Amino acid sequence: MSEPTNAELTEKPVASVSLEKEKVTSGRYSHHVFICGHIRPKGSERDCCTNNGSMDVLREMKTLVRQAGLKNVKIQKAGCLSICGKAITCVVYPEGVWYSLSGNTDELQKIISQHLQGGKPVRELFLEV
Ligand code: FES
Repeated sequence: MSEPTNAELTEKPVASVSLEKEKVTSGRYSHHVFICGHIRPKGSERDCCTNNGSMDVLREMKTLVRQAGLKNVKIQKAGCLSICGKAITCVVYPEGVWYSLSGNTDELQKIISQHLQGGKPVRELFLEV
């Protein structure tokens, strides 16, 4: 048996991520969406997602997911995800895709249709750090 090429070695982590995803998604939920609901007092040095409307986004996302009939998607409030002051921070598992949301309904619809239903994360909404 020959040694694996660099290309094959590079592909290995992807393969193991796929296997891991299958393990994770074999449970009750296909996706787990965490939206930051951390609150900082006014005048704090760092801003927080709730000041940018994250709790409204959380409620709207729950409503839209319910309307889409996605019973296998869990939407949950998270504590501070440590990337603060850049709109609203959201992370979707099992992929571990981080989004920066403005609170626009169209963004949420894209995440639902493209990512949660279609399996393709919405690149234009990726959180840039
Ligand atoms: S306050 Fe939302 S990520 Fe820190």
